[in-house]
Amino acid sequence: MRTLVLIKPDGVARSKVGAIISRFEDKGLKVTALKLMKLDRERAEKHYAVHKGKPFYESLLNYITSAPLVAMVVEGNNCIEIVRKLVGATNGAKAEPGTIRGDFSTGIDCNLIHASDSEESAKYEIPIFFDEREILTYERADRDWL
Ligand code: CMP
Repeated sequence: MRTLVLIKPDGVARSKVGAIISRFEDKGLKVTALKLMKLDRERAEKHYAVHKGKPFYESLLNYITSAPLVAMVVEGNNCIEIVRKLVGATNGAKAEPGTIRGDFSTGIDCNLIHASDSEESAKYEIPIFFDEREILTYERADRDWL
């Protein structure tokens, strides 16, 4: 199973990339694609199409396209549910301590990270950021212990 994770512009600007990726590695998940990129408006609109028309849609697009972000594909059994738990509630002010947003974010606008909310969303979102050939196959050396 695969999921899409974005470390949003505030995460990159605040130098939280290493700390965030470590959460996934430490949990036993596998990063199989990774890139630093500035998202263009067209792709941002596609990624957040489900939020079109909502009051925060325009500011969300401005924020996500404002500066570089890190996109990655994370793989592992039940990774969608596991990653969502690690990420925490959408609003950093309400996210539990110990989660990524709970530890590093205080609000809902700049909430540091995005993770696909279902398998269907992951299948829609991943191709917006990665060609299939950019998603690599390898084994973790500790796989038998996970
Ligand atoms: P994300 O998980 O990327 O999905 C949509 C994003 O919209 C969300 O994180 C927040 O960054 C942003 N957002 C801003 N306001 C809201 C809101 N009221 N409800 C949900 N998402 C919001």
